[in-house]
Amino acid sequence: MKGREVQKYKMLIDTDPGVDDAMAILMAHDRAEVVGLSVAAGNVGIEHTVANALKLVEVIGATTPVYAGCATPLVHSAADAADVHGSDGFGDTGYTPSAREAESEHAALAILRASHEFAGSLVLVALAPLTNLALALKLDPDLPLRVARLVVMGGAVSGRGNYGTVPAEFNVGFDPEAAHVVFSQWPRFTLVDWEATMRHGLDFERFEAMLAKGDARAKFYDSITAKTRAWSRERGRPKLLIADALAMAVALQPDIVTHAEEHHVGVELDGRITRGATVVDWQDRLGKRANAHIVLDIDQARFEGLLASAVGAA
Ligand code: BDR
Ligand code: CA
Repeated sequence: MKGREVQKYKMLIDTDPGVDDAMAILMAHDRAEVVGLSVAAGNVGIEHTVANALKLVEVIGATTPVYAGCATPLVHSAADAADVHGSDGFGDTGYTPSAREAESEHAALAILRASHEFAGSLVLVALAPLTNLALALKLDPDLPLRVARLVVMGGAVSGRGNYGTVPAEFNVGFDPEAAHVVFSQWPRFTLVDWEATMRHGLDFERFEAMLAKGDARAKFYDSITAKTRAWSRERGRPKLLIADALAMAVALQPDIVTHAEEHHVGVELDGRITRGATVVDWQDRLGKRANAHIVLDIDQARFEGLLASAVGAA
């Protein structure tokens, strides 16, 4: 671990690995004290997301506990993102699974327990559909009072989504009811959305050169992302997008943010062509409490420095 930006904080990551979750988890272990990975279904099914979380902890050489959580969204079923991440969520490399197993405690209960154990010093980073967190909130609506900061990767704040309906982003679109529970009950959270991700893409060649310089973490990351990088190039994406890594950069170094706005954000649950949209009251017309600190831009050079450090290439 390096600068320990969140040294006085403990970090719990709710995640659905997924290759961009993987980079975020590497970054977190490089810089913070990670007290657990609570895992949801999302990018792929829960059996894969849990196995991937366990494998990544092994690659890092850590002993971070992994808690399996919700296998389905709260209300409606949803399509996964295996086309982007591979059918196992980690690029179908056929890696040898970790010998370790997930803890017996459910992810939602682990979130609540950690919030008591580290009351006032817990940073929650939500990189998955918000199913586990919504469940935890329903079990204990006072949860936000004990959490120092919540950073959510989710949403598309002006309607340029990446999943399902045009304006939906994957994490919110996969489980809109869960996102609604969190957005309506959490007093103030930091939101890192898909459109910020698109503004902070990474040059493919530079990123690959960085991986080539790194250690075993880089090698593993290189192998599990080969398919995703090929998929991105085939789709003509000009840059590599790693949404969860951007959110993690903001969680680790809040002062990396160069432009943000505070507004109310709601989730569309019923729209005929907009289910899963995140609707931002940009002009504060509704008189509702601003629940979200919406990250619009960050310092790109610092972001890339955190990535390099996380894979031993800095
Ligand atoms: C988000 O959706 C998932 O596919 C990624 O892991 C990320 O959390 C981006 O929309
Ligand atoms: Ca994710």
